[in-house]
This record gives sequence, structure tokens and C-alpha cells, in this order.
Amino acid sequence: MNKPKVFVTRMIFEEFLDILSREVELEVWPEEHPPSPEILQNKIRTVEGVLTNLMDNMDKKTIGMAQNLRVISQIAVGFDNIDLFEATRRRIPVGYTPDVVSEATADHAFGLLIAAARRLNESERWVRKGEWQIAFHPQHWLGSEVNNSTLGIIGLGRIGIEVAKRAKAFNMKILHNSRSSKPDYETAYNIKYVSLDTLLMESDFITLHVPLNNNTRHLIGEAELKLMQTNAILINTSRGGLVDPKALYRSLKEGWIKGAALDVTDPEPIPINHPLLTLENLIVTPHLGTATIQTRKKMCEIATQNLLAGLKHQRLPWCANPEVYMDA
Ligand code: GLV
Repeated sequence: MNKPKVFVTRMIFEEFLDILSREVELEVWPEEHPPSPEILQNKIRTVEGVLTNLMDNMDKKTIGMAQNLRVISQIAVGFDNIDLFEATRRRIPVGYTPDVVSEATADHAFGLLIAAARRLNESERWVRKGEWQIAFHPQHWLGSEVNNSTLGIIGLGRIGIEVAKRAKAFNMKILHNSRSSKPDYETAYNIKYVSLDTLLMESDFITLHVPLNNNTRHLIGEAELKLMQTNAILINTSRGGLVDPKALYRSLKEGWIKGAALDVTDPEPIPINHPLLTLENLIVTPHLGTATIQTRKKMCEIATQNLLAGLKHQRLPWCANPEVYMDA
């Protein structure tokens, strides 16, 4: 029997390619840059399975090319690059990799929080420029205390909860705003469910953990930034599109808020001449929230399981559109 054809849009750990190649006819895109839309569409036309990541534009047109596609397996927890409606309409299950990304992403969010509070990147740049001429000065490099401060978590999902656990160790008061109250977690970690406005007005640190969709695009814009305290620090490890970059620039430049730390930007990658990169009170890392060897391996493992299940017409263990399994 012919093996099903699978296109893997980027190089992943060899061990997972080995597992896959026992069961499928594999084609791996060898380049660092993602395949162009035309190439992706061309591949999708003939394969039974595709292993994607968040750089692959799986829009309506691309999914529409599919003739035999049984599964889209995304190596990420987010899937805003995939037209889920179209995939569901065509009854193609979409796999994703939740849970396993939570700890690494929360670690990074918390790392950014401390780095911004204590001005780590800014001061390190200063040292490397040779500007450290006075060994110590009582008034130099004053930052914000994390201990006992207030953290506002927007989106108390899996990653938000991991951030809350870390915040407990720093005696932080924790607020959250999510689609609904989460009484179990609120009790377990002493988290208060508040309105978005209250969270913005009362938090010293605000961290975003919601997916990007039509309801959340530019969730943080001028009005929200103006509600924040002037000592507030914004952290985004979710998706760049959650924050209006023009409003963020003005807020950091004009001192509406104290600082921001972004692992995700809009656009991504952020161009070197982007106004945000001129600001000292901003930290940017290159979308590396899940980038530990352990987490990336777990993500590949789940994506491989999702892919193989889909090819066998079995239910995906981690499916973003379970509606595909409902009777038509
Ligand atoms: C990373 O951004 C992911 O969605 O897994």
C-alpha cells in the first residue's frame, strides 16, 4: 500500500522525522525561511498531511487547494495563521500543542517581567558601551520592586495560571481578567477576577495570555494604555497583534507607562528601523517563549501524534476544531 504523503514546512528534530518516515512519504522544506504561499499551495494540493508552524499562512486559498488533505498538524499552541473556519468547513481536523508550552512560556513571561522591572537589558547595553564609569551610585539604575507588587493577568488559561504560580513566589497580588471567572484557580492561587478597566488601573505589571482573533486584535490600544498607571510595565508573550504598536510607542515615549517587554511584535519580525526599537524602556525578544529544547521536543511529539492520528482517520489527541467530529 502507498504511504500517505506528508509535507513538513520546516526542519524539526531528526528523531521525529525518523518516526514519521516509517509511516509516511515525507517531504521536509529544507530552508530557514518558510515556503512561499505558491509553494505551500502547491504542496497542499497533493499531500494527505501537513506539519505546519505559525509562519505558514494556511488561509482559505491555501486550504482550498487541498485535494486529499486529512490533517493539518500545527507545531504551536496558537493557530491564528490557520483559517480554522475553512478547515472545519472542509472537515479537516487541525492539531495543535497546548499544555506542553505553558511552563516555558510562563518562565519567559516572568523573565521579561523581572528584566523590565530591573532594567536588565538597558543597563547591560550601557555596560557594553563603556559607560560604567562610577562603580556604584545610590541613585543610579533604580527600577521597580517585583516583590509585593500587583500583577494583572489578561487571560487566565493554561499559561496565565503558570504565570500566577510564579507570581505567588514573589508575594504578588494577582488580578485577572478573562472571558469568565475561574473559581478553582482563583481560590487555589488567591487570584481576584476583575473587569479589564480595574485590572489596567490597578496593576503594576500586566501580562497578556489570550489568543489573537477578531475580538482581541489591538486589545491594548491608546485607551487601555492611558488607563494604566505611569509605573506600569506591559508584557506580551502571546501574539503581537494584541497590542497597537503605534499607541505603545507613544505610551512609552510620552511616559503614560514605564516600560514594556515583548516576545511578539506586529509586524514580526520587527524591522530594524521600527520606532519602537529606538526606545530604551522596551525589551524585545524574537518570539522565543517556547524555545527550550525540552518544550520544543514535546511540541514535536504531540504534533507527530496528531499528524499520525489524522492520517489514520482517528480523532486527534489535541484538536483545535473538534466540531469536525460532529455528525454533519
Ligand atoms: C508560539 O507562539 C505558539 O503558539 O506555540
